[in-house]
Amino acid sequence: MDRMTTLFDGYEGRLIVVSNRGSCTFKKTSSGLQATPSVSGLVSALEPILKEQGGIWVAWGGRYSTASKAMGLSLPLPEKNPRYVNQEVLLSRKEVTQYYDGFSNNCLWPLCHSFLEKTIFNEDDWRTYIKVNKKYARVLAKVAKPRDMIWVQDYHLALVPRLVREHNPLAALALFWHIPFPPVEIFETLPWARDLIQGILGCDLIAFHTESYTRNFLMSVEEITGAKVDYRNKTIEWRDRTIKVAALPIGLDCKQLEGLAQRPDLRTQAQQIRDKIGGQYLILGVDRLDYSKGIIERLEAIEYLLENYPEYRGKLTFLQIAAPSRTSVPAYSQLRRRVEETVGRINGRFTHNYHSPIQYLFQSLDKENLVAHYLASDMLLVTPLRDGLNLVAKEYVVVNTGKDAILVLSPLAGVAFQLKQAIIANPYYPKALADSIVNGLKLTEGEKRHRMNQMYKTVKGQDIFWWWKMIQENWIASYRHSQSKFVMHPSVKKQARVAN
Ligand code: F6P
Repeated sequence: MDRMTTLFDGYEGRLIVVSNRGSCTFKKTSSGLQATPSVSGLVSALEPILKEQGGIWVAWGGRYSTASKAMGLSLPLPEKNPRYVNQEVLLSRKEVTQYYDGFSNNCLWPLCHSFLEKTIFNEDDWRTYIKVNKKYARVLAKVAKPRDMIWVQDYHLALVPRLVREHNPLAALALFWHIPFPPVEIFETLPWARDLIQGILGCDLIAFHTESYTRNFLMSVEEITGAKVDYRNKTIEWRDRTIKVAALPIGLDCKQLEGLAQRPDLRTQAQQIRDKIGGQYLILGVDRLDYSKGIIERLEAIEYLLENYPEYRGKLTFLQIAAPSRTSVPAYSQLRRRVEETVGRINGRFTHNYHSPIQYLFQSLDKENLVAHYLASDMLLVTPLRDGLNLVAKEYVVVNTGKDAILVLSPLAGVAFQLKQAIIANPYYPKALADSIVNGLKLTEGEKRHRMNQMYKTVKGQDIFWWWKMIQENWIASYRHSQSKFVMHPSVKKQARVAN
């Protein structure tokens, strides 16, 4: 489980993944601790790596604790065939409200997605964010051994790398930033931009999904800290270390999805969905209910389509699956109300012969159910106003390869630079989106198949194991380089001997 494994290039150490959300959410019940699998892109991407590699996953497990200690339960997971250890971090309800709802999701999330008007700067939330990051660092100080590879995930824990580095100057540390990194003019409106950047610079490797997020980050580092940045090699000189920055888009466990796509029961379920919905065309949207996903704009495009292409009335159904998300953040409950009003308005206008053009599910579906819906549909609309990458688009391609399905993609989703054969449409302009939908439906079967197959090659070639290999290659090279410079320094020679 948390065995020592040989990672890339002969480096030996355990893998320690650190994130806000782990693979399970825990709840105490009268019959013991109940674990529910988390629904999250980050989780479905990282779990296959931990299952293959073994190691420790340090995460808040969804429980609230009033204890001041940070270390919670250590549980071998998955329950039936343990492959790694889940190390719980204990947080109080107030900490979760201020660090997760508050600083992470009321401030960093909108800021990084360039929604400045939604960004809330709150000093108390910031203080709690520091406190929670320190809690994580305390847990890591207890569980990590000197040669372990500590891999921090996402914007919730940006201060952890520096905190760990202060405690252990020789630590192997990386961070993957799963959301966009905004242009410097936006990022520097954050009153604590410098602290955040300095926190991240504790790493040997900092990785993003795209070249443009990487460039934005490098510019922020240069402008905000004055550090020396090499844009060509994507390195930063910082406090005697050379930090590597890389653009590495996350991938999928394709084999697992392909297995599901072939399952006869899921194919039958897909046919049943089709029969129940009826009509000629089924168009799908699958998102967390988040304002960055462009759900309202997408609904408006469908409304425009029904208004301006009357031949599709009664023939076309748009099914939006919206997974509940961050429901205690006001911006999210307000969005839910707006989406439901918009669905009601469009159905009120265009229901024909008792057929409603919009179907709306406010629930999260498990992978099997999702695959059945992907198989049932003719088209998927992934039209965010801004999105770090978007793994749903990749899932759709893997499940529908060889089929005449269509992917409509916003250029503002990180994944657009990889899936070039999708139909690219501006999500902010209902007419453009509606026209793209109609054009997509009119493509020949051969053209649809060709596009899907081309995209499949990209997704398959850059799957989750490719991603992990690239992370390791970049990380170990950067770590070794910095370490060799670092151990020269007399003040740390002694520490280096202990660590090695
Ligand atoms: O896409 C960014 C991200 O933070 C993912 O890492 C995560 O899977 C998703 O948003 C869901 O977020 P949350 O954990 O807040 O539900």
